Amino acid sequence: MVREHRADGTEPTDRWWGSYAARASGMIASEVRALFAVASRPEIVSLAGGMPAVDALPLDAVASTVADLVTSRGRVALQYGSAQGDPELRARICDVMAMEGITDAHPDNVVVTVGSQQALDLLTRVFVDPGDVVLTEGPTYVTAINTFAAYQARVVHVSMDGDGLVPDALRETLTRLAAEGARVKLLYTVPTFQNPAGITLTASRRAEVLEICRRAGVLVVEDNPYGLLSFTGEPVRAMRADDPDGVVYLGSFSKTLAPGMRVGWALAPAPVAARLVLAAESAILSHSMFTQLAVERYLATQPWPEQIKAFREMYRDRRDAMLTALAETMPAGATWTRPEGGFFIWLTLPDGVDAKAMLPRAIAARVAYVPGTGFYADGSGRNAMRLSYCYPPPERIRDGVRRLADVLRAEISLRQTFAPLATTNPRATNPRATNPRATNPRATDPRPAAPRTSDFRDQ
Ligand SMILES: Cc1ncc(COP(=O)(O)O)c(C=O)c1O
Repeated sequence: MVREHRADGTEPTDRWWGSYAARASGMIASEVRALFAVASRPEIVSLAGGMPAVDALPLDAVASTVADLVTSRGRVALQYGSAQGDPELRARICDVMAMEGITDAHPDNVVVTVGSQQALDLLTRVFVDPGDVVLTEGPTYVTAINTFAAYQARVVHVSMDGDGLVPDALRETLTRLAAEGARVKLLYTVPTFQNPAGITLTASRRAEVLEICRRAGVLVVEDNPYGLLSFTGEPVRAMRADDPDGVVYLGSFSKTLAPGMRVGWALAPAPVAARLVLAAESAILSHSMFTQLAVERYLATQPWPEQIKAFREMYRDRRDAMLTALAETMPAGATWTRPEGGFFIWLTLPDGVDAKAMLPRAIAARVAYVPGTGFYADGSGRNAMRLSYCYPPPERIRDGVRRLADVLRAEISLRQTFAPLATTNPRATNPRATNPRATNPRATDPRPAAPRTSDFRDQ
């Protein structure tokens, strides 16, 4: 063991401090994690976490499915399985994807994973070398950023508007990166009911994005855990449906059944699927047969489409409660997205208001949210936040939004009082803003970036 001393000569309390791999050394505790521990108190309305409302699940049906499984197929369910996943479940997963227009999926090209999070991890592991570029929407799913950072990728954001990822911005980014000699490996996108912005990429842009990536030789990773939770009831056609070779599709039962099952999957072109299976073998040997078969049996024996319909209606009511409360209470200058499905609304605050700085005051007022900076690798998103409507019931959502609006009004009036001291230009007050590397080394540092722990472990 390498024994190191701190600058002041004291020994670190962790005996293994000097032995960690370089990629582990940059893990830092979140600045806001302590506040999130407080946010789980019952008196606080949490609009922060993205937890599905599992209490809406028919637990009796889950219990009888699991009991039947143990009695009828216990010897299989409690045994090791393969790293690729149970064949019957993979066939059922193909039926699920057909609901989103993917009609040519073959079970051989499906790899069952421990949630879609593991699929993302395995994909990054097989495609990304330190310093390779992963393109993502800005903002994007926080744990994806952390996964890419763990493999020392360089995350580069491509801007979005109300129609999703902007194709011109994607073209410009690719041109700029090509000029730099950067190796762009993946475009990671959540095109449908995005986490965190709630935005859906339009059909015409989907075709354009696929074409741009095809020409640039960039693999598209379509992460789609919310696709079936459409509030219009009309499923959105998956990008993968129109490009079997250029897209790896990630799916999950976490939002349409239960995240505790930890069953997700990747649908990939055959050679990619084969590599994912090898990577899965070294990571987990075999996925839990128990939860795979429990999901398979649940889908086979229970009215799962009805269940999804009930989820959709519940989440739509919650979304409506949040949209109405925002319209009734938010001060001028605040804007927000209007999701057609999924769990999240992205709230942009009036110029100059810093969502992260405001969070302790919001928590003191008994409401929590996730500041926007968590969803960027480059320190952007200071005047934005993600609001989740998935978990609290409508009356709690209304209370939470009202409290948030009061905190925001107080913040704005404070800024107005001290206007001569303040500025709306973050670059003027924050030297880090002029140098994104100082905020987050993952943004522009060509060297391998160090991973960090997630600010928001529950998504
Ligand atoms: C966009 C996105 N991708 C992946 C995941 C991970 O989901 P799973 O539970 O399937 O690992 C989440 C979870 O919230 C998510 O929002």
